[in-house]
Amino acid sequence: MADVDLKPRGAVRGVLRVPGDKSVSHRALLFGAFARGVTRARGLAPGADVRSSRGVVEALGIAVRDEGDAVLVAGRGWDGLHRDPAAPPLGLDCGNSGTTTRLALGLLAGGRGRFLLHGDASLSRRPMRRVAEPLARLGARLEERDTLPLVVEGAPLRGARVETGVASAQVKSALVLAALQADGPSVVVEPEPTRDHTERLLRAMGVPLGPVTEDGRARAGLTVPGGAPPAAPLEITIPGDPSSAAFFVALACLSPGSELRVENVLLNPGRIGFYRLLARMGADVAWHEEVSSPEPCGTIVARGGALRGVEVGAHEVVDAIDELPLLAVCGALAEGPTTIRGAAELRVKESDRIAATVALLRAFGAQADELPDGLALAGGARPRGAAVDARHDHRIAMCAAVMAARASSASRLGGAEWVRVSWPAFFDELERLAPEAAR
Ligand code: S3P
Repeated sequence: MADVDLKPRGAVRGVLRVPGDKSVSHRALLFGAFARGVTRARGLAPGADVRSSRGVVEALGIAVRDEGDAVLVAGRGWDGLHRDPAAPPLGLDCGNSGTTTRLALGLLAGGRGRFLLHGDASLSRRPMRRVAEPLARLGARLEERDTLPLVVEGAPLRGARVETGVASAQVKSALVLAALQADGPSVVVEPEPTRDHTERLLRAMGVPLGPVTEDGRARAGLTVPGGAPPAAPLEITIPGDPSSAAFFVALACLSPGSELRVENVLLNPGRIGFYRLLARMGADVAWHEEVSSPEPCGTIVARGGALRGVEVGAHEVVDAIDELPLLAVCGALAEGPTTIRGAAELRVKESDRIAATVALLRAFGAQADELPDGLALAGGARPRGAAVDARHDHRIAMCAAVMAARASSASRLGGAEWVRVSWPAFFDELERLAPEAAR
């Protein structure tokens, strides 16, 4: 895709269905690979990221096929992933996807065979030691390098107590997948609770994960049985991705006269921190749950109105991590200052999202500053059209589209094709729901 022209847009009106949740989609595919029997996942995320997980599962010799709107994964149990340890490492292309890489490292560390994980330029800059180090405490054998390409060699693992170090659901999930294959039970402890899709899906597969109590108090984390327990295949319909819906909900809240209804969205409490923050900014946004197994799912309704600035503290970051650049866009356009702190993790996402967001907002004429661990926005911006670049990052591309929709003149976006990572039809939906405005 060449550069894309982005026009100022008016009210957002209509009903939206977003692609399947990316986090749940990755897990349905990767967990299907070690289940015994056929996993049937409907509504998988259509983007390149989830295709990377599918590609990895297929490369491991597990049959994956489409059947109508469902994807079927023919898992053969844990052993189905084993390969001859004497064979040269099997190359696994993880594309742009950190979730694919980190979950696969955990999955393969406890199996048999050698695997070479690699990815694109952005993924090859992202830190992997955060997974490799705690995995090594279970006995995993990984190359001692922080970045891809990395070789992991399946090894006999021992059950242990491990801490994740960072609040990362990817790291936690990698440890759980490895610990399940260890010789005895493990305890995985995290500094604070992160999204719990791994727990919900594994429990739905019949894998008994327990809570963690230490010194008489509950800790964030879980106890994991070892011994490669049998896992039943999932039959799952994947709800829409709240991280994708967020762009349209934000634009609706920022655009007078909007009325948007997003149906069938994942409403896992660990994923809707952005919506809670938006409500605190005074936005007219509400959500209600309709279905709740294994993941809560329902409808979000948003209307246009005025937003005020907000202070986002460290304890609110994890549940809104992927939407913080968008929250900064909202903060720049709201009345009064917004500060986001405790979010240094943003620096190691698909791009350095603190630097990328500040550059983006400034290009549109907003007053924005980097903090070592977050962003400071002055608020009250009246954006003008700008020429910006997505920096190889799907969420920065979509932030640019929201900012451009509120600008006084046309903008141009380089790297717009990066939206394909999570939502190939993003610009079509923008065209459908938010017609161009003459401003
Ligand atoms: C994800 C966890 C988060 C998130 C990412 C998806 C997951 O990453 O940013 O988009 O599916 O587990 P971290 O685990 O690095 O925080």
